[in-house]
Amino acid sequence: MAAGKGTRMKSAVPKVLHRLAGQSLLQHVLNTATQLGADRIVAVTGYGADAVEASVRAPNLVFVRQVPQLGTGHAVQQAAPLLHDEGTTLILNGDVPMIEAASARALLAAADGGRLALLTVELADATGYGRVLRGDAGGGGVHAIVEEKDATLSQRAIGEVYTGIMAAPTLHLKRWLAALRNDNAQREYYLTDIVAMAVAERVPVVTANPRNEAEVLGVNSPLQLAELERRVQRTRAEALMEAGVRLADPARLEVRGDLVCGSDVEIDVNCIFEGKVSLADGVRIGANCVIRNATIGERVVMLPFTHIDGGPVGATIGAGSELGPFSRLRPGAVLGEGVHIGNFVEVKNSTLGKGAKANHLAYLGDANVGERVNFGAGSIVANYDGANKHRTVIGANAHIGSNCVLVAPVTIGEGATIGGGSTIASDAPAGQLTVARARQVTLPKWKRPVKKT
Ligand code: UD1
Ligand code: CA
Repeated sequence: MAAGKGTRMKSAVPKVLHRLAGQSLLQHVLNTATQLGADRIVAVTGYGADAVEASVRAPNLVFVRQVPQLGTGHAVQQAAPLLHDEGTTLILNGDVPMIEAASARALLAAADGGRLALLTVELADATGYGRVLRGDAGGGGVHAIVEEKDATLSQRAIGEVYTGIMAAPTLHLKRWLAALRNDNAQREYYLTDIVAMAVAERVPVVTANPRNEAEVLGVNSPLQLAELERRVQRTRAEALMEAGVRLADPARLEVRGDLVCGSDVEIDVNCIFEGKVSLADGVRIGANCVIRNATIGERVVMLPFTHIDGGPVGATIGAGSELGPFSRLRPGAVLGEGVHIGNFVEVKNSTLGKGAKANHLAYLGDANVGERVNFGAGSIVANYDGANKHRTVIGANAHIGSNCVLVAPVTIGEGATIGGGSTIASDAPAGQLTVARARQVTLPKWKRPVKKT
C-alpha cells in the first residue's frame, strides 16, 4: 500500500518516496517482497502516482491506482482483481520500511492452511497504532483491531499493536474486502476491520511477532523518519564494528548504501557513504568525508573533507594513495597506486598513473596522466571548448609547472617540463622544457606616473 499522501509528513513529496538510509521507504518494502520470491508484487499507488511508479523497481512488480484514497481496505480492494484466488496474499505497508524477509516468511507460514495471520508487536509507546483486542476467555485469541481514533481510553492503554502487515488466504481476503464499510471516525475503509469478520466466520486469527521492534516501526512524521533512521544507522554501525571496523563514533556515521570494509579500517566522525563503497584493508578515512560509489584500495589515507562521487561509473583509488584535505573526485576518476591528490584539486573522468601528484588547486578532467607526473599548483586542463570535451594526455614523469592551462586535445610527452604560467595549446615534446608565455622584459627608462598638483 503506497497510495496515501502522508499528511503528517507535511510535505508535497509522497510519503513513501521519503528516504531512509539512502532509499525510498517504498523501495525498502519492495526489496523485502523481492526476497520473498512473490509471484506477483502489486503496489497500490495514488497520491503522486506518476512519481512513485517512476522511482521504484522490483521484478514482477505491477501497479494499480487508488483514486481517491479511501483507506487501507479500499487500497487492497484495488489490488484484489490481480491476485490469484489460490494462494496467500501478504500485505505490506509502504510506510513500514524495515520489515525483514524472515519475519514476513514466518507470517506467511502462520497463514498457511487458511488462517488470517497478523504481525503484531508490544510497544512501550503505542500512540498512533491500531490496537489488538483479545478476548479474556478461550486463551486470549484476537477478536478485532481498533484504530486509535476509534479506540476507547481503556483500549488505548493496550500495548500490543498491529504493525500494518498481515497474510491472508486470498479467497477469504477478497470476500472480506467486499464487505468493508466506512462507518468509523475517519470515514475510511479500514483493512483492519477484516479481523472481526474472520472471527465472525470462525476463520482462525493468529499472530506472529517480528524479530526486533525496529522492523515494524511506521513512518508518519519527520520525527518518526529521523528516529527510524537513527535506529537503522545504529544497527549498521554495530555490524561494521562487529566486523572490526574502528568507528570514532557510531552515532556519527551514515551508511546510505552498501559499505564493505576490509580489516583495520578506521573511520573518523561525520562520514557519509552512499551507493556501493568498498574500503580495503588499512584504509583511514578522516572526518567529514562524503563517499559515493567508490573502490578504495589498501592503506589509502583520506584526510578530512574529501568528497568522492563516483556517479554511475564509479571512482577507483589505488593502494597507498593520499587524498585531501578538501579533495574532490568525480565519476571516472581512476587513481593508480600511491597517487597524491591535495587540497582543492578536482579530478573527473581521468586516470592517474602510479605515484602521480596534484597537490594543490588543480583541475584534471578527461585526462590520461602518466606515472610520477607532477601537476603543479593552480594548473588545469581546459577540456571543454564550449561545445565538446577533449582529452589531454600527459606522459610519464612529466612536470607541469604552476598555473598552466593545457588546452585539450593536447599531448605532453614523457619527461617533458612545462614552464609555470604556460598556456599549452599544441603538443609539447618529450624530455624538453616548453614555455608558452610572454618573455619577461624590464623597461629601463620607465617611470611611475606622478600625481598632478
Ligand atoms: C495503519 C493501520 C494501523 C496500524 C498502522 C501500522 C489501518 C486502518 N490502520 O494505520 O492499524 O497500526 O498502519 O503502521 O490499516 N494507504 C493507501 N491508501 C489509503 C490509505 C493508506 O495506500 O487510502 C497506504 C499509505 O500510503 C501507507 C499505508 O497504507 O503506506 C498505511 O496508511 P496510514 O494512513 O499511514 O495508516 P496508519 O494510520 O498508520
Ligand atoms: Ca502509517
